[in-house]
Amino acid sequence: MTASSLANSQLPRRESIGGRPAWLLRLRSTDVLLCLGANDALLLPYWGRSGGTDRPTDYVLHPQGNRPSHREFLDGQPVAYPVYGDALFKEVCLVVARPDGSRDTRLSFVEDRVENVDGHPVLDLVFQDELVGLRVTHRFQVFVEHDIVVRSATIENRGSELLVLERALTAALPLPPDRYDACTLHGTWGREFTLKRRPLAPGKLVVESRRGSSSHEAHPWFAIRPRDDESEHTGAVWFGSLAWSGNWICSLEVELNDAVHIVAGVQPFDFAWRLTPGESFTTPELAGGYSDEGLGGASRLLQAFEEEVWLPASHRDRPRPILYNSWEATNFAVGADQQIELARRAAAMGTELFVVDDGWFGARDDDFAALGDWTVNAAKFPNGLRQLIDEVHGLGMQFGIWVEPEMVNPNSDLYRAHPDWAYHIDGREPTYGRNQLVLNFARDDVREHLTEQLRRLLSDHGSIEFVKWDHNRAWTEVGWPERPEQQREVWVRHVRGVYAVLATLRREFPEVLWETCAGGGGRADLGMLRWTDQAWTSDNTDAADRLTIQYGFSRAHTPRAMVNWVTDVPNQQTGRIAPLAFRFHVAMQGVLGIGGDINEWSAEEIDEARRLIAQYKQLRPLVQFGRQYWLVPPTPLGPCAVQYVSPAGDRTVVFVYQMRGLRGAGVGRLHLHGLQPGRKYRRDADGVESTGAALMAAGIPAEAVDPRHPTPMLDWYSGFQVWTAI
Ligand code: GLA
Repeated sequence: MTASSLANSQLPRRESIGGRPAWLLRLRSTDVLLCLGANDALLLPYWGRSGGTDRPTDYVLHPQGNRPSHREFLDGQPVAYPVYGDALFKEVCLVVARPDGSRDTRLSFVEDRVENVDGHPVLDLVFQDELVGLRVTHRFQVFVEHDIVVRSATIENRGSELLVLERALTAALPLPPDRYDACTLHGTWGREFTLKRRPLAPGKLVVESRRGSSSHEAHPWFAIRPRDDESEHTGAVWFGSLAWSGNWICSLEVELNDAVHIVAGVQPFDFAWRLTPGESFTTPELAGGYSDEGLGGASRLLQAFEEEVWLPASHRDRPRPILYNSWEATNFAVGADQQIELARRAAAMGTELFVVDDGWFGARDDDFAALGDWTVNAAKFPNGLRQLIDEVHGLGMQFGIWVEPEMVNPNSDLYRAHPDWAYHIDGREPTYGRNQLVLNFARDDVREHLTEQLRRLLSDHGSIEFVKWDHNRAWTEVGWPERPEQQREVWVRHVRGVYAVLATLRREFPEVLWETCAGGGGRADLGMLRWTDQAWTSDNTDAADRLTIQYGFSRAHTPRAMVNWVTDVPNQQTGRIAPLAFRFHVAMQGVLGIGGDINEWSAEEIDEARRLIAQYKQLRPLVQFGRQYWLVPPTPLGPCAVQYVSPAGDRTVVFVYQMRGLRGAGVGRLHLHGLQPGRKYRRDADGVESTGAALMAAGIPAEAVDPRHPTPMLDWYSGFQVWTAI
C-alpha cells in the first residue's frame, strides 16, 4: 500500500500558520497539531478531542508567546522536542557533545515526508544543525482507528567529527496551562502496578528506572488528567506508554505559566552514545494518545492498540491457552515422575499448556547454581525431557519451559568458562542478587552463545510450544572493561540485544508462545510486549492483592497479555486464605493459569477447578478479545467489579468481588457499559431480561448471583454474570 492509497482525510496534512508550515494529524476522535515556533522549534500546540475543523489556526487562537521582550524564549511554550541549545530552561530531550566540548544544538526545519508504513500514515519531520553536522528526524506514526500516535526520533551524525549523545529522549508532550494530576504505576516485588494519583505542582515529578530493567518500582506509563477528576468513564486524559524495557525516565514538569512539559525516553543517567560520522541512533517508541472517556477510555485505547497492532503478529489473534505452572508446587525440586503426575491432574482439570518452571537444568537444586547451563538435568529427568514432553502432548496439552538467559550463577559451567561475560569491574567484588550476576547482552559472543543454547533446547526437543523468559535481579557493577568506549552504551545495547535474540528465535520458531517475566512483573512493558505475547504479572498470587495489581496492569496493558495463577492457601506470599472460587474469579480477569500443588488438592477441589476452568473457556473470548470496563476499582472494603464486552456489544460478563463487607451496607448498583441500547439482553444464570439501555442507565445490583448463597456472604464472595443479546 502506498501513501496515496490511504484516504486523503487520514494523511497528515501540511498546513500553514502565519506563513510557516504546520501539520494536522487527524485521528478517529483526536486531532494533533504541530507547527514551527521561534528559531524553528517544533511546537505541539494541540493534542485533544477533534474540533471538527480543517483550519489549524482554530487550535491556536491564543498567543503562545512569552514576555514581550523575550519573544524568542521558548519557556512555557508547547515545545515538542526541546534540545540543549534552545532558548529554554526546562528538561530537554537531546544533548549532543562535540569534540571541542561544546554541547549547543540548534535545529532548523529541513523537510517533511509522508509515507505509509504497514498501512498506517507516517509523518517524518526532518531538522538539522549544519554547524554540528546533525540531523534529527521526528517520526509520528498515526494509528487513526486506535487514536494513538507512536513517536520516535532518529539522530544522525552527518558531519565529519565524532558526536556523543549524552541524552536522547524520545519525545516531549506539552499541555496547556491548567491544574493537572499525574497517574503513574509503582510498587516493588510482589506489589507491582499500584496506581498512584497526585497533583502536579511547580517543579518536576520524575518517575524512572535505573535498575537495568523497566522495573517493579515504576512502570513506563503515565496518564495526566485535570485536577481532582477521578471519574473512570469520563473526562480528559492524556497518556503515554514507552516501548522500552531498560532504564527509562519520564519527567512531568509544571512550568512557571502552569503549562505542563512531559518528556520520556531512555534514562540519561550513565547513558552516552558515540555517533561516528554516518551513524544514527533511533530512540525507543512512545505510544501516546488522548481520551475524553476517563482513565478507562485511555486504558481501552492502549489495550486495543496492543491487541490489534502491537503484540507479535503470529499469536496476536490467538486465544491464550490456560496454563499450569509448577513453580509454587515444586520450587527447584522438579522431577520427571512428579511433573508427569502434575501434568495428568492438570490435563484432567482442563488445562491446555503445562509449564515446567525453574529447576530442570544443569545442577540447579537451589538458587545458588546453574543459571547459564541450559541443558537438561539428567538426575531429575533420567529419560530426558522428551519423556515428559511426550507425556504432556499425549494428554492433549502443549509443553512449556522456563529460562533466564541473561543471568549466570558463579557456580555454573558457563561462568567458569567465561567469567568476563558477566558485567564486572576489574578489582571490585560484585554484589549478588539472588546469588546471580547479569550477563553482558551488549556483547555479540554472549548473545550468540545464549541464542545457540536456546535454539538447541527448542530444536532438540522438537515441540516446546512455550517459553517463559525471566530476569531476576537488578543490575549492579555494570562494567565492560574490555570496551571502555562503549561503557555507557551498555544499558541500551543490552536491551536491544534481548530484543534481537527474541526476534531471531521468533523467526526460527514461529509457533512458540513467549512470556516475559522479571521476578513477577518487573519487565512487563510495551517494549517486551513487542517480542513476547504475554506477561507474568506478579509473583504475588494472593487473590486479594492481585485485584489491585491486575487493576493497575490493565491501566496500561491488555488482559490478553496478563497472566494470573490460582495457587494454594494459605497463600505463599501473604498467608491469606481465599476461597477457591474467589481465586479463580480473580485469575479469570486475564490469561488463566493454575499454579498450586494440585497433587495435594482434594477430589472436591479438583472437581470445582474443572467446573471453573470450563466456565473460563466460555468466557475467554469476552475476557481476551472484548473491551474491559472497571465498574468499581478494588478497595479493601466493599465490592469491586469489572466488565468485559464483546466487540459487537452483544455479550458481556461482569465479575463482582468482595473481600470484606459491612453488615447493613446497602447494595450499590453497577452501571454497565458498551452495550447496544436498543437490544434486549438475557442473563444466562436465571433468564432475567433487560434492555441494553436499562442495564447501562439503571444498572444491576453489585452482588454475586450465586444460587448457593442467596444472601451474599459479607467476606470473600465473588461471582460473575453473563448477559447475552437476544
Ligand atoms: C521468578 C518468577 C517466578 C519463578 C521463579 C523461578 O521469581 O517470577 O514465577 O519463575 O523466578 O526461580
